[in-house]
Amino acid sequence: MSAQAPTQPRRVENLHTDKGKVPVYATGVVDQNWAGYSDEDHATWATLFERQRKLLVGRASEEFLRAQDAMGMTPDRIPKYDDLNQVLEPATGWRLIGVEGLLPELDFFDHLANRRFPVTWWIRRPDQIDYIEEPDLFHDLFGHVPLLMNPVFADYMAAYGRGGVKAHGIGADALQNLTRLYWYTVEFGLIREADGLRIYGSGIVSSSGESVHALESPAPNRIGFDLDRIMRTRYRIDTYQKTYFVIDSFEQLMAATDPDFTPIYARLAEQDSIPAGTVLDTDTVYQRGTGEGWSTEGDV
Ligand code: PHE
Ligand code: CO
Repeated sequence: MSAQAPTQPRRVENLHTDKGKVPVYATGVVDQNWAGYSDEDHATWATLFERQRKLLVGRASEEFLRAQDAMGMTPDRIPKYDDLNQVLEPATGWRLIGVEGLLPELDFFDHLANRRFPVTWWIRRPDQIDYIEEPDLFHDLFGHVPLLMNPVFADYMAAYGRGGVKAHGIGADALQNLTRLYWYTVEFGLIREADGLRIYGSGIVSSSGESVHALESPAPNRIGFDLDRIMRTRYRIDTYQKTYFVIDSFEQLMAATDPDFTPIYARLAEQDSIPAGTVLDTDTVYQRGTGEGWSTEGDV
């Protein structure tokens, strides 16, 4: 195989958002250029894939593990988006597209609303195996793509995209409320299964440290899903989450987010945000975190 390295992604802009300073890349759809991956890139995929699969058996939701198998992702080489699309499109109508990295919000929402999932084409360097501050191919492909095989979750993601276009038109506060929902479900969600809590959030399943922390550490709170509460809750971008929210099923998530959010946004605009680590009297508490190791500053 050719060892020619892919070219570096083109950063076009640094944007200050509620998530801090985030790089925003060129918005165009790009070819995955699979032949351009180096042996080192494939080895990075293999290392990450094997480590996570071992950790995730018994930790990730059964649905996630099943879906990942069904997609035919294997450790031996970086999957080709075209191959995955052969399986994904007939299953739920979703299709993967290549991108340089994080997209401006409206572009991202528009893709989701149309069942296109943007996947960063480049993979992290070997020295970034344990932590990278922005989404790369491993996070996007390994973390986000499998659950797009699940019909209910697939519908949730498309509905989220349509909701995002709408929230964008309403204003910055609505967008912030909706972003928190994405964060605490799609990125960092837990689900209650027959034998206990399991992970479905992409930010957790793609992180070896957080895969263990989210389920087994006494530090974080684990609280039952509550739409309004989540949309008021601040979060962490540079440490493990202080609080994880637990759904009972993807059907519950779908049903809870089905109503028009417009009046909810209006109501929430009158209320204060909730710090990332706070537990409220009204919460359904699975675990009250010890708060061990938490930094006091830095919720976004
Ligand atoms: N029902 C939401 C709205 O009216 C849309 C949405 C669906 C948002 C699913 C998130 C998840 O805005
Ligand atoms: Co993500």
